Amino acid sequence: MGRLVRFGVSLEADLLGKFDRLIKERRYTCRSEALRDLIRQELVQKQWQESGAIAGAITLIYDHHKRELVNTLMDIQHDFGGIIISSSHIHLDHNNCLEIIAVKGAPKEAQGLADNLKSVKGVKHATLSMSSTGRNI
Ligand code: NI
Repeated sequence: MGRLVRFGVSLEADLLGKFDRLIKERRYTCRSEALRDLIRQELVQKQWQESGAIAGAITLIYDHHKRELVNTLMDIQHDFGGIIISSSHIHLDHNNCLEIIAVKGAPKEAQGLADNLKSVKGVKHATLSMSSTGRNI
């Protein structure tokens, strides 16, 4: 963390009240930490829009017994090999698998990979969590 700087903020009382309730719900210990997170979130979104580089994770839940499902998922991942930096496969139970695919690259490509995987028959749930590469925030 860099040098801390204090600055004053003027807000309408009802807006501050809503902010304080949100802070409590989210379990922040102080307004400063909540504000820092909001600013970081905005900077991350700006980075996605401008630089086009994100780091993220795609999470898949699927039934590996479905015919051809595993091969199809593998084919898709090979097609997007340039942005995949790692993947983990966890056997959840007799039927279900959890796969976590770490990606780094253009947000459009990450979304494309997630959409392709999600559309495969037998995939029960798929999410893409986009984050920052950590640069310039
Ligand atoms: Ni499995």
